[in-house]
Amino acid sequence: MRIEKADEIGFCFGVRRAVDILERVARERGGVETLGAVVHNQQVLQRLAEIGVRVAKGVDDIQGDMVAISSHGVSPQLEEEIRARHIETIDTTCPFVRRAQIVAHRLADSGFLVIIYGDADHPEVKGVLGWANNKGLATLDEKVIAKVDNLPRRLGVLCQTTQIPTHFTGFIKRLIDSVFARDFELRIIDTICHDIRQRQAAALKLARTADLMLVIGGHNSANTNRLAQLCSMATKTYLIETAEEIQPAWFQGQSYIGITAGTSTALETVNEVWLKLEAMKFG
Ligand code: F3S
Repeated sequence: MRIEKADEIGFCFGVRRAVDILERVARERGGVETLGAVVHNQQVLQRLAEIGVRVAKGVDDIQGDMVAISSHGVSPQLEEEIRARHIETIDTTCPFVRRAQIVAHRLADSGFLVIIYGDADHPEVKGVLGWANNKGLATLDEKVIAKVDNLPRRLGVLCQTTQIPTHFTGFIKRLIDSVFARDFELRIIDTICHDIRQRQAAALKLARTADLMLVIGGHNSANTNRLAQLCSMATKTYLIETAEEIQPAWFQGQSYIGITAGTSTALETVNEVWLKLEAMKFG
């Protein structure tokens, strides 16, 4: 059995930056709270908890006078609510998410209805919508837009940073088809993260030649699920959070195994999977 890792693996730039900030602040101040989970990965959260990083479930759950905002960012309204309670913020918002927030703000200010191609329940998307002064909506289905009452003539479209680029372009094409006859003005801004683009391309390249792909990451991690979705278009794919979830029966008759991982999956977890596969080879 041959085992190969995709080229882009380990923390992305934004998660690495957020974890570094939290580790430093926890060390300097003896602990730190984060507003919501800083990453969607249980193993990383456990490691951070061991050095004093506590997750506050919401603003009402913040116990101290300082809180860290996750790499997904928050809306300006939520930032204001925190400030009004005299709680200091440590901002670990990823610069790629910040860019999407600024884009949304500028579009809304210029009179566009802001449309985010993304998951409306994801914290990043909720935050970006807030930056659009709530003059926007998030959806993965262009038909939702056609049904909006009194749809403004000017539409500004951006993308959740972790979406699959070809899905975004497909959405745009269908949107153009559905609104073009109505004298609309459409402004499209590509806000997909560069790191995600490279990671997805590297995973797909490997998936095209591998007999089976293992995608390692949180079951609730959006970008991990999308990596698994992408790989499953090319080959048999399993999403696992840890090495313990591996089932030897998956590998019967498979000779080339590819490994990739979500942006918040630590290299330690990837290496544990690697070691377990290597042990199976000789088991
Ligand atoms: Fe940022 Fe992209 Fe990671 S948006 S948090 S670098 S996946």
